[in-house]
Amino acid sequence: MQNRCPMEPDSTNTPEAAGRLPVLAQAVAAPLTRAAIFLVATLNPGPENRAALRSFCADLAAVVRAVEFRDLEASLSCVVGFGSDAWDRLFGQPRPAELHPFAEIRAGARHAVSTPGDLLFHIRAKRIDLCFELATQFMARLGNAVSPVDEVQGFRYFDDRDLLGFVDGTENPRGAAVANAVLIGDEDTEFVSGSYVIAQKYLHDLGAWNALSTETQERIIGRTKLSDIELDDSVKPTSAHNALTTIVEDGKEVKILRDNMPFGRPAHGEFGTYFIGYSRSPRTIEQMLENMFIGRPPGNYDRLLDFSRAVTGNLFFVPSATFLENVTEDQTRPALAQSPAAPAAVEPSPSIPSVREGSLRIGSLKGDVPHE
Ligand code: HEM
Repeated sequence: MQNRCPMEPDSTNTPEAAGRLPVLAQAVAAPLTRAAIFLVATLNPGPENRAALRSFCADLAAVVRAVEFRDLEASLSCVVGFGSDAWDRLFGQPRPAELHPFAEIRAGARHAVSTPGDLLFHIRAKRIDLCFELATQFMARLGNAVSPVDEVQGFRYFDDRDLLGFVDGTENPRGAAVANAVLIGDEDTEFVSGSYVIAQKYLHDLGAWNALSTETQERIIGRTKLSDIELDDSVKPTSAHNALTTIVEDGKEVKILRDNMPFGRPAHGEFGTYFIGYSRSPRTIEQMLENMFIGRPPGNYDRLLDFSRAVTGNLFFVPSATFLENVTEDQTRPALAQSPAAPAAVEPSPSIPSVREGSLRIGSLKGDVPHE
């Protein structure tokens, strides 16, 4: 895997130096917010539905801008991703080098299911009403072109805790490390500034979880519950969640960016975590899943899965914002904005300035900018 950050300003390789336009990423690295909607849909068969979705892609940024403008302080953002089959139907060649259907994993009683999904909308804002409005506008616009598969409204729970009671998101990358973790660089030149995202909806057996002692829970997660401090290696089991999801390649930790959200319906006994992880290569998250479900070594699996069941599973490719803007209704594939790929810049939104400003400010993802 390439380690150079595609968003790092580099005087020898800037868009200006190369005489090329920068490729803007979607709002993958948008600040973590108080509310989110995760919407997965399938694309209905037929050329008219493909055309409708393609035309929607080009207009997506304008729809987001219109809803965002109703409260510019609310940090509304949207990321759209496409499943492997949908990519072929909508865009054909070229295709992202590592895009494939989500591969299910079965091990013992554990099952990482693979479920239908051509399209993901990850909508985030400080206010759920803005997320709701954007999802409403999208669906009104898409009409019969798509069929909804799953729709989850997530919320922040106290101090960024999941419903198991643990702070979730602490070890996310920060600063320049975010772009390095999530944005494709030179390794796939046609898809610079794109990203892969794996989404899984988990349901928890909270009764069984809450019957465990806090110390047992802490050894399952690998951190203390109240203070969120990582357990010392002398007491942390090798099966701890944060041990199995630590991936080291060539002596360097390979990070992903997570924006998990609790959701649920207390009256129905439904308590869940919507896992969403962005990465530059899907392999990183797939490896984490294998470690969790099968175990590292096999059998030494993540005990979190004794209390959490995955009920959905999808892999999507998140093309750059520049790619989306260039999609046209009738083309068999969108015109790429540049060829070969120019270095990346991030989406020019109030929360994420362009690389040309010299400071990406996305370093504040979990540090300087608190969840809003
Ligand atoms: C039931 C669903 C899940 C829950 C409730 C959960 C919860 C947590 C918690 C509480 C932490 C510790 C705090 C932190 O660093 O964020 C954590 C860490 C982490 N989780 Fe999960 N997680 C879930 C699923 C997943 C999945 C499916 C993956 C990847 C395939 C994953 C990847 C990670 C990673 C990479 C870390 C950071 C490890 C480190 O560097 O210390 N998690 N998770």
